[in-house]
Amino acid sequence: RKPVSIHTLQSLYRKNEPITMITAHDFPSAHVADHAGMDMILVGDSLAMVALGMEDTSEVLMEEMLLHCRSVARATKGAFTVGDLPMGSYEICPEQALESAIRMIKEGRVKSIKLEGGKEVAPTISKITTAGIPVLAHIGLTPQRQNALGGFRVQGKSTASALRLLEDALAVQDAGAFAVVLEAVPAEVAALLTQKLSIPTIGIGAGNGCSGQVLVQVDMSGYFPPGRFLPKFVKQFGNVWAESLRAIQDYKTEVKSRAYPAPEHTYPMPQAEFSEFER
Ligand code: KIV
Ligand code: NA
Repeated sequence: RKPVSIHTLQSLYRKNEPITMITAHDFPSAHVADHAGMDMILVGDSLAMVALGMEDTSEVLMEEMLLHCRSVARATKGAFTVGDLPMGSYEICPEQALESAIRMIKEGRVKSIKLEGGKEVAPTISKITTAGIPVLAHIGLTPQRQNALGGFRVQGKSTASALRLLEDALAVQDAGAFAVVLEAVPAEVAALLTQKLSIPTIGIGAGNGCSGQVLVQVDMSGYFPPGRFLPKFVKQFGNVWAESLRAIQDYKTEVKSRAYPAPEHTYPMPQAEFSEFER
């Protein structure tokens, strides 16, 4: 397929066709997402938890993001790639943010970057976009600020906070963001923001009135052990962990019983040659 560009995304938006986005954290997870025809692939800093086993996203380093971005970029032929700027790589000043964004493009090999925040990051977004790097904004629940938000909670539930969200959305749009992620926002608020903006909104826990949707791949595909907490907005479309568990258990059983490897899995040797060898 033809690689998705900023123009492809704008044309989907104009046609009111939902934009599909999913996270990937390595070569195989990007390969399958690209093969499925996702419009966008995000190397989210959620890889801290889903790929590196960390408690939260605040621990992941720029170098780790770059390594994973590169492996995702190698597998992605069609989708438009986005690299998440990790916490600490963009907050100090717009210059620091631009430096980090440039590393994402040059070393991470992604096509654009995402960063969290509203009004207060507008100068940062404008600095990065002025350098020709597309920026995906992210407002509402911003996990990098979970300590300040008091945990993972829905944003924009009161009139006042919905108004702040609208201000943030307009500010990141005016700063030049090509789209904005709305995370954990009431569906009505997200739909209204989508109407008021002239750039696409990508929802996660923000209802179906957005211009597109994003989910974390391991969540939506069920690639996690039973009992893990899933936010309300996640729909589990598969059970990859169970399938992987079944396959590995079957392998184990067949090795223990010597059912595997069977003759069809082995390299034959001509009988005459073997007789000679055996003597
Ligand atoms: O890190 C991530 O996966 C994200 C998406 C959930 C938007 O930021
Ligand atoms: Na993220």
